[in-house]
Amino acid sequence: MSAPLAFPDLTFLQDYFDDPAGWKAIGDLLKTVFGVDIGPLDALGGHDRSNMPSAYFDAEGRCVANFAAFSMPLVIDGRRVRAAAWQSGAVLPEFRGRGLFRELIRITLERCEQAGFEAIVLYTDKPALYEPYGFVTFREQSFTGPAPAPGNAFATARRLSVENPVDLALLRETLARRTPVSNRIAVCDQSLMFLLNAYLLEDVTLSWLEAEQAVIAWRQPQADRFELLDIVAADIPALDTIIAGLGLAPTIVTVQFPPDRLGWEETASAVDGDLVFMMRGPQALMPQAPFRLSPMAEF
Ligand SMILES: CC(C)(COP(=O)(O)OP(=O)(O)OC[C@H]1O[C@@H](n2cnc3c(N)ncnc32)[C@H](O)[C@@H]1OP(=O)(O)O)[C@@H](O)C(=O)NCCC(=O)NCCS
Repeated sequence: MSAPLAFPDLTFLQDYFDDPAGWKAIGDLLKTVFGVDIGPLDALGGHDRSNMPSAYFDAEGRCVANFAAFSMPLVIDGRRVRAAAWQSGAVLPEFRGRGLFRELIRITLERCEQAGFEAIVLYTDKPALYEPYGFVTFREQSFTGPAPAPGNAFATARRLSVENPVDLALLRETLARRTPVSNRIAVCDQSLMFLLNAYLLEDVTLSWLEAEQAVIAWRQPQADRFELLDIVAADIPALDTIIAGLGLAPTIVTVQFPPDRLGWEETASAVDGDLVFMMRGPQALMPQAPFRLSPMAEF
Protein backbone atom coordinates (compact mmCIF):
# COMPACT_ATOMS: atom_id res chain seq x y z
CA MET A 1 0.00 0.00 0.00
CA SER A 2 1.30 3.50 -0.75
CA ALA A 3 1.98 5.61 2.35
CA PRO A 4 -1.09 7.31 3.83
CA LEU A 5 -1.11 11.11 3.93
CA ALA A 6 0.29 12.33 7.24
CA PHE A 7 -1.79 14.73 9.34
CA PRO A 8 0.43 16.20 12.12
CA ASP A 9 -2.18 15.94 14.91
CA LEU A 10 -3.36 12.44 13.94
CA THR A 11 -2.10 8.84 13.84
CA PHE A 12 -3.01 6.52 10.97
CA LEU A 13 -3.96 2.94 11.96
CA GLN A 14 -5.15 -0.12 10.04
CA ASP A 15 -6.84 -3.34 11.14
CA TYR A 16 -7.25 -2.14 14.70
CA PHE A 17 -10.61 -3.82 15.52
CA ASP A 18 -8.96 -6.52 17.68
CA ASP A 19 -7.48 -3.87 19.99
CA PRO A 20 -10.14 -3.33 22.72
CA ALA A 21 -9.39 0.42 22.84
CA GLY A 22 -9.68 0.63 19.05
CA TRP A 23 -12.93 -1.36 19.05
CA LYS A 24 -14.39 0.98 21.67
CA ALA A 25 -13.19 4.00 19.65
CA ILE A 26 -14.91 2.86 16.41
CA GLY A 27 -18.08 2.09 18.41
CA ASP A 28 -18.01 5.66 19.81
CA LEU A 29 -17.45 7.17 16.33
CA LEU A 30 -20.36 5.25 14.77
CA LYS A 31 -22.65 6.14 17.65
CA THR A 32 -21.74 9.84 17.36
CA VAL A 33 -22.00 10.08 13.56
CA PHE A 34 -24.78 7.60 12.71
CA GLY A 35 -26.48 6.96 16.09
CA VAL A 36 -25.84 3.23 15.49
CA ASP A 37 -24.87 0.91 18.36
CA ILE A 38 -22.54 -1.91 17.28
CA GLY A 39 -22.46 -3.22 20.87
CA PRO A 40 -24.61 -6.29 19.97
CA LEU A 41 -21.70 -7.52 17.83
CA ASP A 42 -19.81 -8.36 21.05
CA ALA A 43 -22.40 -11.01 21.90
CA LEU A 44 -22.10 -12.33 18.33
CA GLY A 45 -18.34 -12.87 18.49
CA GLY A 46 -17.15 -9.42 17.41
CA HIS A 47 -16.45 -8.01 13.99
CA ASP A 48 -16.33 -9.79 10.63
CA ARG A 49 -12.83 -11.33 10.41
CA SER A 50 -12.44 -10.15 6.80
CA ASN A 51 -12.85 -6.51 7.82
CA MET A 52 -10.11 -4.10 6.65
CA PRO A 53 -10.55 -0.82 8.55
CA SER A 54 -8.34 2.22 7.97
CA ALA A 55 -8.58 5.16 10.32
CA TYR A 56 -7.10 8.28 11.87
CA PHE A 57 -6.91 8.63 15.67
CA ASP A 58 -6.24 11.76 17.69
CA ALA A 59 -3.85 12.11 20.66
CA GLU A 60 -6.63 11.16 23.11
CA GLY A 61 -7.21 7.85 21.32
CA ARG A 62 -10.46 8.95 19.68
CA CYS A 63 -11.11 7.49 16.26
CA VAL A 64 -11.86 10.69 14.31
CA ALA A 65 -12.16 9.23 10.78
CA ASN A 66 -12.74 5.68 9.62
CA PHE A 67 -13.54 3.63 6.55
CA ALA A 68 -13.73 -0.15 6.23
CA ALA A 69 -14.18 -2.87 3.63
CA PHE A 70 -15.18 -6.46 4.26
CA SER A 71 -15.65 -9.49 2.05
CA MET A 72 -19.23 -10.05 0.90
CA PRO A 73 -19.49 -12.67 -1.85
CA LEU A 74 -22.61 -12.04 -3.90
CA VAL A 75 -24.61 -13.80 -6.56
CA ILE A 76 -25.44 -11.35 -9.33
CA ASP A 77 -27.50 -12.59 -12.26
CA GLY A 78 -26.52 -16.17 -11.53
CA ARG A 79 -22.78 -15.55 -11.27
CA ARG A 80 -20.80 -15.70 -8.03
CA VAL A 81 -18.96 -12.38 -7.60
CA ARG A 82 -16.08 -11.83 -5.20
CA ALA A 83 -17.38 -8.52 -3.84
CA ALA A 84 -16.23 -6.23 -1.05
CA ALA A 85 -18.69 -4.13 0.91
CA TRP A 86 -17.69 -0.68 2.13
CA GLN A 87 -19.09 0.55 5.41
CA SER A 88 -18.55 2.73 8.47
CA GLY A 89 -17.36 5.76 6.50
CA ALA A 90 -17.45 8.53 9.07
CA VAL A 91 -15.50 11.60 10.16
CA LEU A 92 -16.15 13.50 13.41
CA PRO A 93 -17.75 16.89 12.60
CA GLU A 94 -14.81 18.95 13.88
CA PHE A 95 -12.40 17.05 11.58
CA ARG A 96 -14.41 17.36 8.36
CA GLY A 97 -13.29 19.25 5.27
CA ARG A 98 -9.59 18.40 5.70
CA GLY A 99 -9.43 15.60 3.14
CA LEU A 100 -9.41 12.76 5.72
CA PHE A 101 -12.22 10.86 4.02
CA ARG A 102 -10.75 11.38 0.54
CA GLU A 103 -7.54 9.75 1.81
CA LEU A 104 -9.43 6.87 3.46
CA ILE A 105 -11.35 6.22 0.21
CA ARG A 106 -8.04 6.14 -1.70
CA ILE A 107 -6.47 3.70 0.78
CA THR A 108 -9.55 1.45 0.98
CA LEU A 109 -9.80 1.30 -2.80
CA GLU A 110 -6.13 0.37 -3.05
CA ARG A 111 -6.55 -2.35 -0.42
CA CYS A 112 -9.56 -3.82 -2.26
CA GLU A 113 -7.66 -3.83 -5.55
CA GLN A 114 -4.67 -5.53 -3.92
CA ALA A 115 -6.97 -8.14 -2.34
CA GLY A 116 -8.35 -8.92 -5.80
CA PHE A 117 -12.04 -8.11 -5.26
CA GLU A 118 -14.00 -8.11 -8.54
CA ALA A 119 -16.53 -5.51 -7.40
CA ILE A 120 -17.27 -3.14 -4.52
CA VAL A 121 -20.72 -2.31 -3.19
CA LEU A 122 -21.91 0.28 -0.69
CA TYR A 123 -24.96 2.14 0.58
CA THR A 124 -24.95 5.91 0.85
CA ASP A 125 -27.13 9.00 0.95
CA LYS A 126 -24.28 10.93 -0.73
CA PRO A 127 -23.61 9.23 -4.09
CA ALA A 128 -21.59 12.26 -5.24
CA LEU A 129 -18.86 11.18 -2.83
CA TYR A 130 -18.26 7.96 -4.73
CA GLU A 131 -19.09 8.81 -8.36
CA PRO A 132 -15.55 10.13 -9.05
CA TYR A 133 -14.26 6.64 -8.23
CA GLY A 134 -16.45 4.89 -10.83
CA PHE A 135 -19.33 3.82 -8.59
CA VAL A 136 -22.71 3.49 -10.33
CA THR A 137 -25.96 4.31 -8.47
CA PHE A 138 -28.92 1.93 -8.30
CA ARG A 139 -32.28 2.74 -6.75
CA GLU A 140 -33.39 -0.49 -5.08
CA GLN A 141 -36.81 -2.02 -5.77
CA SER A 142 -39.15 -4.08 -3.62
CA PHE A 143 -41.73 -6.45 -5.09
CA THR A 144 -45.45 -6.34 -4.28
CA GLY A 145 -48.40 -8.38 -5.46
CA PRO A 146 -51.46 -10.37 -4.44
CA ALA A 147 -50.72 -13.14 -1.97
CA PRO A 148 -50.69 -16.65 -3.40
CA ALA A 149 -53.30 -19.13 -2.14
CA PRO A 150 -51.82 -20.72 1.01
CA GLY A 151 -49.85 -23.90 0.35
CA ASN A 152 -50.30 -27.26 2.05
CA ALA A 153 -47.76 -26.76 4.84
CA PHE A 154 -48.94 -26.99 8.45
CA ALA A 155 -48.61 -23.83 10.56
CA THR A 156 -45.69 -25.07 12.64
CA ALA A 157 -43.51 -21.95 12.79
CA ARG A 158 -41.57 -21.29 15.97
CA ARG A 159 -40.20 -17.82 16.78
CA LEU A 160 -36.46 -17.44 17.19
CA SER A 161 -34.56 -14.90 19.27
CA VAL A 162 -30.94 -13.91 18.65
CA GLU A 163 -30.68 -13.46 22.40
CA ASN A 164 -31.47 -17.13 23.10
CA PRO A 165 -28.25 -19.23 22.83
CA VAL A 166 -30.08 -22.30 21.49
CA ASP A 167 -31.84 -20.22 18.81
CA LEU A 168 -28.59 -18.40 18.00
CA ALA A 169 -26.82 -21.74 17.43
CA LEU A 170 -29.62 -22.85 15.09
CA LEU A 171 -29.42 -19.52 13.23
CA ARG A 172 -25.66 -19.83 12.81
CA GLU A 173 -25.92 -23.43 11.55
CA THR A 174 -28.62 -22.50 9.06
CA LEU A 175 -26.72 -19.40 7.89
CA ALA A 176 -23.61 -21.55 7.33
CA ARG A 177 -25.43 -23.77 4.84
CA ARG A 178 -27.71 -21.21 3.21
CA THR A 179 -28.23 -20.86 -0.51
CA PRO A 180 -28.60 -17.35 -2.02
CA VAL A 181 -32.20 -16.22 -1.59
CA SER A 182 -32.24 -14.89 -5.17
CA ASN A 183 -30.22 -15.58 -8.29
CA ARG A 184 -30.61 -11.92 -9.33
CA ILE A 185 -28.72 -10.52 -6.34
CA ALA A 186 -28.11 -11.97 -2.90
CA VAL A 187 -25.35 -12.63 -0.42
CA CYS A 188 -23.77 -16.08 -0.70
CA ASP A 189 -22.55 -16.74 2.81
CA GLN A 190 -22.51 -13.54 4.89
CA SER A 191 -24.00 -14.23 8.31
CA LEU A 192 -22.83 -11.55 10.76
CA MET A 193 -24.86 -8.76 9.12
CA PHE A 194 -27.98 -10.95 9.26
CA LEU A 195 -27.55 -11.43 13.01
CA LEU A 196 -26.73 -7.77 13.66
CA ASN A 197 -29.70 -6.62 11.56
CA ALA A 198 -31.92 -8.94 13.59
CA TYR A 199 -31.04 -6.64 16.54
CA LEU A 200 -31.10 -3.36 14.65
CA LEU A 201 -34.16 -3.58 12.38
CA GLU A 202 -37.47 -2.74 13.94
CA ASP A 203 -40.37 -5.20 14.10
CA VAL A 204 -38.56 -8.07 12.36
CA THR A 205 -39.72 -11.53 13.37
CA LEU A 206 -37.50 -14.55 12.82
CA SER A 207 -39.41 -17.83 12.51
CA TRP A 208 -38.19 -21.39 12.10
CA LEU A 209 -40.05 -23.70 9.72
CA GLU A 210 -39.05 -27.19 10.84
CA ALA A 211 -40.24 -29.12 7.79
CA GLU A 212 -38.42 -26.75 5.41
CA GLN A 213 -35.40 -26.27 7.75
CA ALA A 214 -35.74 -22.57 6.97
CA VAL A 215 -35.43 -19.31 8.91
CA ILE A 216 -37.93 -16.72 7.69
CA ALA A 217 -37.32 -13.01 8.43
CA TRP A 218 -40.63 -11.20 8.11
CA ARG A 219 -42.93 -8.41 9.25
CA GLN A 220 -46.68 -7.92 9.28
CA PRO A 221 -47.24 -4.14 9.02
CA GLN A 222 -51.05 -4.66 8.84
CA ALA A 223 -53.26 -7.73 9.31
CA ASP A 224 -53.78 -8.22 5.56
CA ARG A 225 -50.14 -7.49 4.59
CA PHE A 226 -47.12 -9.74 4.74
CA GLU A 227 -43.58 -8.48 4.22
CA LEU A 228 -40.84 -11.01 3.56
CA LEU A 229 -37.30 -9.80 4.29
CA ASP A 230 -35.15 -12.90 3.88
CA ILE A 231 -35.06 -16.69 3.86
CA VAL A 232 -32.12 -18.59 5.28
CA ALA A 233 -32.18 -22.19 4.07
CA ALA A 234 -30.34 -24.75 1.96
CA ASP A 235 -33.47 -24.98 -0.24
CA ILE A 236 -35.68 -21.94 -0.77
CA PRO A 237 -39.33 -22.79 0.00
CA ALA A 238 -42.10 -21.39 -2.23
CA LEU A 239 -43.97 -18.31 -0.99
CA ASP A 240 -47.27 -20.20 -0.50
CA THR A 241 -45.48 -22.76 1.71
CA ILE A 242 -43.95 -19.97 3.82
CA ILE A 243 -47.27 -18.21 4.35
CA ALA A 244 -49.00 -21.45 5.29
CA GLY A 245 -46.12 -22.45 7.57
CA LEU A 246 -46.39 -19.13 9.41
CA GLY A 247 -50.16 -19.59 9.75
CA LEU A 248 -50.95 -16.28 7.99
CA ALA A 249 -53.62 -15.31 5.47
CA PRO A 250 -52.55 -11.98 3.94
CA THR A 251 -54.02 -10.49 0.79
CA ILE A 252 -50.95 -8.45 -0.25
CA VAL A 253 -47.32 -9.52 -0.10
CA THR A 254 -44.18 -7.38 -0.36
CA VAL A 255 -40.88 -9.16 -0.84
CA GLN A 256 -37.76 -7.15 0.00
CA PHE A 257 -35.46 -9.07 -2.37
CA PRO A 258 -35.90 -10.32 -5.96
CA PRO A 259 -38.50 -13.10 -5.68
CA ASP A 260 -37.21 -15.15 -8.64
CA ARG A 261 -36.93 -18.30 -6.49
CA LEU A 262 -40.35 -17.99 -4.83
CA GLY A 263 -42.69 -19.11 -7.63
CA TRP A 264 -44.79 -15.92 -7.47
CA GLU A 265 -45.72 -13.03 -9.79
CA GLU A 266 -45.07 -9.46 -8.64
CA THR A 267 -44.58 -5.79 -9.52
CA ALA A 268 -41.38 -3.88 -8.72
CA SER A 269 -41.49 -0.46 -7.07
CA ALA A 270 -38.75 1.84 -5.77
CA VAL A 271 -37.85 1.50 -2.10
CA ASP A 272 -38.47 4.69 -0.06
CA GLY A 273 -35.62 6.34 1.77
CA ASP A 274 -32.45 8.34 1.26
CA LEU A 275 -30.02 5.47 0.78
CA VAL A 276 -28.96 4.28 -2.66
CA PHE A 277 -26.99 1.18 -3.55
CA MET A 278 -23.74 1.80 -5.45
CA MET A 279 -21.48 -0.63 -7.23
CA ARG A 280 -18.04 -0.37 -8.80
CA GLY A 281 -16.90 -3.12 -11.13
CA PRO A 282 -16.90 -4.27 -14.73
CA GLN A 283 -20.07 -3.47 -16.69
CA ALA A 284 -20.59 -7.22 -17.26
CA LEU A 285 -21.09 -7.74 -13.49
CA MET A 286 -23.66 -4.96 -12.97
CA PRO A 287 -27.19 -6.20 -12.04
CA GLN A 288 -29.42 -6.21 -15.11
CA ALA A 289 -32.93 -6.38 -13.60
CA PRO A 290 -34.71 -4.59 -10.72
CA PHE A 291 -33.31 -5.76 -7.40
CA ARG A 292 -32.95 -5.17 -3.73
CA LEU A 293 -30.38 -6.79 -1.51
CA SER A 294 -32.28 -8.26 1.43
CA PRO A 295 -32.51 -5.72 4.30
CA MET A 296 -31.08 -8.50 6.50
CA ALA A 297 -27.87 -8.24 4.42
CA GLU A 298 -27.76 -4.43 4.49
CA PHE A 299 -24.47 -3.14 5.91
C1 LIG B 1 -19.16 12.57 4.34
C2 LIG B 1 -17.94 12.65 5.24
C3 LIG B 1 -17.42 11.23 5.53
C4 LIG B 1 -16.88 13.50 4.54
O1 LIG B 1 -15.70 13.50 5.35
P1 LIG B 1 -14.58 14.66 5.15
O2 LIG B 1 -13.34 14.18 5.82
O3 LIG B 1 -15.13 15.96 5.56
O4 LIG B 1 -14.40 14.64 3.56
P2 LIG B 1 -13.15 15.21 2.79
O5 LIG B 1 -12.70 16.50 3.39
O6 LIG B 1 -12.09 14.14 2.69
O7 LIG B 1 -13.76 15.44 1.36
C5 LIG B 1 -13.77 14.38 0.40
C6 LIG B 1 -14.57 14.77 -0.79
O8 LIG B 1 -15.96 14.61 -0.47
C7 LIG B 1 -16.66 15.82 -0.73
N1 LIG B 1 -17.69 15.90 0.28
C8 LIG B 1 -17.53 16.14 1.59
N2 LIG B 1 -18.73 16.12 2.22
C9 LIG B 1 -19.65 15.85 1.27
C10 LIG B 1 -21.07 15.71 1.27
N3 LIG B 1 -21.77 15.86 2.40
N4 LIG B 1 -21.69 15.44 0.12
C11 LIG B 1 -21.01 15.29 -1.04
N5 LIG B 1 -19.66 15.41 -1.10
C12 LIG B 1 -18.99 15.69 0.04
C13 LIG B 1 -15.61 16.89 -0.62
O9 LIG B 1 -16.00 18.03 -1.36
C14 LIG B 1 -14.40 16.23 -1.20
O10 LIG B 1 -14.45 16.25 -2.61
P3 LIG B 1 -13.08 16.30 -3.47
O11 LIG B 1 -12.33 15.03 -3.19
O12 LIG B 1 -13.57 16.39 -4.88
O13 LIG B 1 -12.36 17.51 -2.99
C15 LIG B 1 -18.30 13.32 6.61
O14 LIG B 1 -18.93 14.55 6.33
C16 LIG B 1 -19.24 12.48 7.48
O15 LIG B 1 -18.78 11.70 8.30
N6 LIG B 1 -20.55 12.65 7.29
C17 LIG B 1 -21.55 11.90 8.03
C18 LIG B 1 -21.52 10.41 7.69
C19 LIG B 1 -21.57 10.16 6.20
O16 LIG B 1 -22.32 10.79 5.48
N7 LIG B 1 -20.75 9.18 5.75
C20 LIG B 1 -20.55 8.88 4.33
C21 LIG B 1 -21.74 8.34 3.70
S1 LIG B 1 -21.65 6.61 3.43
